[in-house]
Amino acid sequence: MQPKLTAKARCSDGEVGKISKVIMDPISHEVSHVVVQESGAMRLERCVPIGDVQEIVSEEEVVLRCSSSEFSQYSVLDRDQYVTPHEVEIAHLEDNIHVEPGEVLVPLPCLERDVPRRTFFTNMTHAIGALIALPLAFPVLKYLMKPMYKPFDNAWFDVGNSKKIAKENIGYQFKFTRGFKEAFMPEQQIEKNIWVVKATPEVKKAVYEGEDRKFYDNKGDVIWVNKANSPFIGFSGKCPHLGCGYKWRRTKNFPDGVFLCPCHLSIYDEAGKVIDGPAPRALDVLPLDINAGGEIKVIDVEYKAGVKNQIRLL
Ligand code: FES
Repeated sequence: MQPKLTAKARCSDGEVGKISKVIMDPISHEVSHVVVQESGAMRLERCVPIGDVQEIVSEEEVVLRCSSSEFSQYSVLDRDQYVTPHEVEIAHLEDNIHVEPGEVLVPLPCLERDVPRRTFFTNMTHAIGALIALPLAFPVLKYLMKPMYKPFDNAWFDVGNSKKIAKENIGYQFKFTRGFKEAFMPEQQIEKNIWVVKATPEVKKAVYEGEDRKFYDNKGDVIWVNKANSPFIGFSGKCPHLGCGYKWRRTKNFPDGVFLCPCHLSIYDEAGKVIDGPAPRALDVLPLDINAGGEIKVIDVEYKAGVKNQIRLL
């Protein structure tokens, strides 16, 4: 005979509560504990090993082998450490136990004990969902991430003729238009500019320090070399501080002229070196090519603003 749920539980010195659940061993399908809900205000549920059940007098009454004070030493049921047989499939349960299925508990498998019960099932559901969704999401992710791996655009742009630059060591601005396509947006035409200096030997030395300047593509291959003795030097029109446009200006302190960025007042000399302000590095020298007729071409390389070292973005 098995105890019926709601059967009274009696100790040697009186009634202590009623059977509210039973715990079964998932392997043997035997009842391992009865859960007795205390009478009184707290109504705690205590787990009593089946071996401590002295007698099942009837389906209505169970006698425990303890006094009521010893009964209060049994552990309190931690519901998160158990599941119902609905949550774990147990074959032939109904053949072995004869109480309401909803009131039968089975201990959680050891590996899952430390995970709160609901969290475990929630995580499991999410994991299965992710596994199902992954093959569907992969082509979409691949498509979305494609622009991140686009090779640098090393196209040359015609910007104008060097004959327009009459004097040495002054900044001369050339404007040009570049088609620009951001991720999945339609291509836009953007006005860009480059400052070119007809450099004296001193300025060339300050920029190149006697060495040709190499430029690289994504793979690390050299795409162009600016010769250290080339008479013209081109600087990107973007201030390396935060990317604002700057101008060539004569000021009281710099009557011969400097590159002045109005955004945060970075000041650069004719070799692009920082004289004052928050700029973290010198103006960015660009790949420049000039043909025999003086026509200037540039690769519009863009570097990350706000950092000390040049990190190529485009
Ligand atoms: S963007 Fe030029 S100084 Fe800040």
